[in-house]
Amino acid sequence: MAKDLQKLLRRMTLVEKIGQLSMLSGDFTATGPTLSPDFRDAVRAGRAGSLLNLWGREAVLEVQRLAVEETRLGIPLVFGFDVLHGHRTIFPIPLAEAGSFDPMLWELTARRSAAEATADGISLTFAPMLDVARDPRWGRIAESPGEDPWLAAAYATAKVRGFQGDDLASPDSLPATAKHFGAYGAVLAGREYASVEVSERTLHEVHLPAFVAAVQAGVAAVMPALTDLGGVPATAHAPLLRRELRRNQGFDGVIVSDHSAVSDLLAHGVAGDLAEAAALALRAGVDIDMMGRAYERGLPLALERGLVTEREIDAAVRRVLRWKQRLGLFEDPYRGLSAAPAQSVGHLDRALAREAARRSMVLLKNDGDLLPLSASARRVAVIGPLAAAGGELLGPWWAAGDRASAVSYRDGLAEGLPDREIRHAAGCAIGGDGGNGDASGFAEAVALARWSDVAVLCLGEAAELSGEAASRADPGLPGLQRDLAEAVIATGTPTLLVLTSGRPLIEPAILSRAPAVMAAWFPGIEGGAALADLVSGQAAPSGRLAVSWPADRGQIPVFFGQRPTGRPAPGDGGRYVSRYLDRPSTPLYPFGHGMGYTRFALDTLTVTVDTLGPDQDLGVSVGVTNTGRRAGQETVLLFLHDPVASSARPLLELRGFQRIELQPGERGTVRFTLPPAAFELLDHRLRPAREPGRVEIMVGPAADRDRLLSTWIELQPA
Ligand code: NOJ
Repeated sequence: MAKDLQKLLRRMTLVEKIGQLSMLSGDFTATGPTLSPDFRDAVRAGRAGSLLNLWGREAVLEVQRLAVEETRLGIPLVFGFDVLHGHRTIFPIPLAEAGSFDPMLWELTARRSAAEATADGISLTFAPMLDVARDPRWGRIAESPGEDPWLAAAYATAKVRGFQGDDLASPDSLPATAKHFGAYGAVLAGREYASVEVSERTLHEVHLPAFVAAVQAGVAAVMPALTDLGGVPATAHAPLLRRELRRNQGFDGVIVSDHSAVSDLLAHGVAGDLAEAAALALRAGVDIDMMGRAYERGLPLALERGLVTEREIDAAVRRVLRWKQRLGLFEDPYRGLSAAPAQSVGHLDRALAREAARRSMVLLKNDGDLLPLSASARRVAVIGPLAAAGGELLGPWWAAGDRASAVSYRDGLAEGLPDREIRHAAGCAIGGDGGNGDASGFAEAVALARWSDVAVLCLGEAAELSGEAASRADPGLPGLQRDLAEAVIATGTPTLLVLTSGRPLIEPAILSRAPAVMAAWFPGIEGGAALADLVSGQAAPSGRLAVSWPADRGQIPVFFGQRPTGRPAPGDGGRYVSRYLDRPSTPLYPFGHGMGYTRFALDTLTVTVDTLGPDQDLGVSVGVTNTGRRAGQETVLLFLHDPVASSARPLLELRGFQRIELQPGERGTVRFTLPPAAFELLDHRLRPAREPGRVEIMVGPAADRDRLLSTWIELQPA
């Protein structure tokens, strides 16, 4: 620590030290932040080191000035905000964007978010969210990069790079927070904030790799999960935070608690009062207490009772001060804001939002090539409660976004298909609020479907049914929408079902009856325009599923990285084998699934060597031919499987993905390079190992063995 920070620390009172460890909230209204006198007093008294939910150039300049000029020590504040998938320009939700399988896009949208958020005075985002999620009942699956640890790690690297850039002190760098450490995605039965029970192996193999990647990419902060892990809340989990994160992974940034997570330790049943809660969290390694005021109230008492030492408090304060220094705050507390605002502040990057939305939507099925719409489809009925609800398309975390800035499907289609006659009917409300619903709009919707050549049926969830505190035991279409779908499809009019949601919606019957289905997720402000690009054929769909789409609620969790069983069920039949008697075991659509407007064929899978030495990279290549009649983009996934190891390995392990753009009839080659680390596993004693023997290498479009080309290599011992 620089000498002057050491001097600063020596001058600090206990109240000021605890202030640096406390994050308070600027009040927040739907139209933007408001300044409540309460937190201004706290700032003046040095009782707040950081704030959340306060943004906007003027507000931040004013409050930072309070901290710098009106406090005894003039230590600048950090301003944190949930910039999850956009700040003012709202992009598709992470679960959707992950399905573009494009690290460049992930990085670009984060870079844009950083530019917008820093122009609004934000100096810390609580993103990326890196919880591997395999349960669509959990609302926060929307914020997650999906079910796969390797994909999540690639996403983590790109997002941290995009948010932070090369230099944390640069005014347009947005320091990032990897959250929620760890295994929050495994909440029991998908119920929000419920307990987490995962094995040590699953923790390390599934839930932590994305955090390792974020730490390696230099992430500025880490947020422990609100949940417990086998009985110990992450916020009080010393082995997880101190041993795993700090010592093993080498994380040297700041650990910031989740919202009131320190005081939640009381309800968790591990602390009797705030003093115990504060002591547990601090000693576990939590530097900053977000919002709970547990450090403010609890730490002085904990100190008196000998539950913590002043040295322990000093260590956390030192880390926070050093961190503020790395963020460039002592050099320029206003991080460039005091200069005249750039012209572009408030300007939205609609082109990037449209591209991201286009590339994130997943065409699940397209019977009879309903899409792109043929020229003969003159009359288009845009039906459903999500058709004109542009604001919903922003999804659950819209940061400083403006719901009115969103292009609805109806408006996007009207604009993008100017030569067709477009009519609209909502049919019913979105529902999900417990009411019985009102079917009086059905007749109009059905009549419109009958009138039209093609119906675009826009169904799904409201944004508030997704995200935090939005678990759903029945993750299907809410309210009367199922009935509306039945009624519209029953007209016989060719129907494109557009699903707006933060999770795979489990509606097997409807999905099997609709000829074409587009999973649009929450696509962001340009959702309607992007849909029109795809429906009209201006662009072809290329998004893929970053999560398996279950065929039935009873399958949850269903994911491709399952381990083999001692009683496999070939073909899903037979008795005394691992299967359901009444349902298939496979998902309706596997991870990686997603159609375009052309077809691809893979051939000639080649590896550079048959026997791989311990320090050698493996080169893998495969030919890809566009066998259809339109240009298109194919995503090729690479999996491996180790059939005999000291611990049973997952049936498929993702180790790479590549995209290739091909004209009709064109053939290209996709190449992968697998470094030695790609073949590392945790052995039966959970030690990292490379185990010699045969390994299967597979490539294909989705996590579906029937669609994969395969070859074998021999791993030599280390
Ligand atoms: C609670 C959420 O769990 C977390 O992800 C978020 O960053 C904080 N609230 C702050 O809004």
